[in-house]
Amino acid sequence: MTFKTLDALDAKDKRVLVRVDFNVPMQDGEVTDATRIERAARTLTELADAGARVIALSHFGRPKGRVESSMSLAPVAEALGRTLGRKVAFAEDCIGEKAAAVVDTLPAGGIALLENLRFHSGEEKNDPAFAKALADLGDVYVNDAFSCSHRAHASVTGIPEHLPAFAGRLMQAELEALEAALGGGERPAAALIGGAKISSKLQVLGQLLGKVDKLIIGGAMANTFLAAQGVEIGKSLSEPDLLDAARDIMAKAADQEVEIVLPVDGIVAEKLEPDADCRTAKIEEVGETEMILDVGPASVINIKDKLEGVKVLLWNGPMGAFEVPPFDAGTTDVAKAAAVLTQKGKLKTVAGGGDTVSALAHAGVLDKFSYVSTAGGAFLEWLEGKTLPGVAALETS
Ligand code: 3PG
Repeated sequence: MTFKTLDALDAKDKRVLVRVDFNVPMQDGEVTDATRIERAARTLTELADAGARVIALSHFGRPKGRVESSMSLAPVAEALGRTLGRKVAFAEDCIGEKAAAVVDTLPAGGIALLENLRFHSGEEKNDPAFAKALADLGDVYVNDAFSCSHRAHASVTGIPEHLPAFAGRLMQAELEALEAALGGGERPAAALIGGAKISSKLQVLGQLLGKVDKLIIGGAMANTFLAAQGVEIGKSLSEPDLLDAARDIMAKAADQEVEIVLPVDGIVAEKLEPDADCRTAKIEEVGETEMILDVGPASVINIKDKLEGVKVLLWNGPMGAFEVPPFDAGTTDVAKAAAVLTQKGKLKTVAGGGDTVSALAHAGVLDKFSYVSTAGGAFLEWLEGKTLPGVAALETS
């Protein structure tokens, strides 16, 4: 990877445009989870302390080019001020007079946040005039939003066509962790892939076959693999039209000597609801009216055994319906086992994507993994082996 970091930037007195991802959970105008804000803090304070005039740019939600007051970043500016313990100026537009007025009066060391980029249709279209209007507000550009870097939008790939571009500290940490997870050459390596559907992860699975020694599959997507092997899965969620795809993945895994680890038992119930009547069933003993809603205790022991001696684990997706107890136990137990190995220095654990962060937070291991990415779609695209346009823009800058 060849990108410039903040180490190469003399930020003093410069107007630094920082693309952050403040697309945070919000309810009734209050930020309900500030993780993404906290993670951007390092870059923003480092630049401010170096005497830069720091101008943060972000999208929020999907307003599709229209001003939607419910998607204003004003509450995020307040939350950012609280997180940083500093004054954060807010501009009611991200381009034009309102933005310029805030940027022009920002002192060296000051931090401003501009209004939602997606209030302008030019953002998602990567309209050159919109990108230029954004770029005119700064002297240099920093991308600290790996989680948005799969979008070829104006603030991600348009601005770096006009300004020197650098990776922020969060982007740098993310790229280094991901590189270490799959590109570092440490073996044996394992991936644990869960979640509901194979269809959304076919490319991920294909890509991982070339990179890991063990592919541990959980969640409802394991059901499709089991069904493809002829196991009766009752009423379990599965994708019957992807049985051939699952067989193809298993055949390729065998060719490449990658071990596929599937559940050997499950927690089964007739309904997916909190505290539903459930039982532990061997995988070949699932009843016609039952659904597999979590991996069972024998599967957890098996997975723990498979992790012994593994050096790197990449985790994406939950092992069961973890939002509905008691079907959270499998995910939690496996996550805790991985966390213990990490804390002992035996395993490097890198996780990310969609529900993964909530599942690991629920298991109480977020700070016990080596690295947990807050990226959703971007993490998956990276896992698919795609070059993310925002990362590519940093490499060519
Ligand atoms: C995310 O939340 O994954 C990023 O902010 C990207 O958001 P988007 O899917 O709306 O582009």
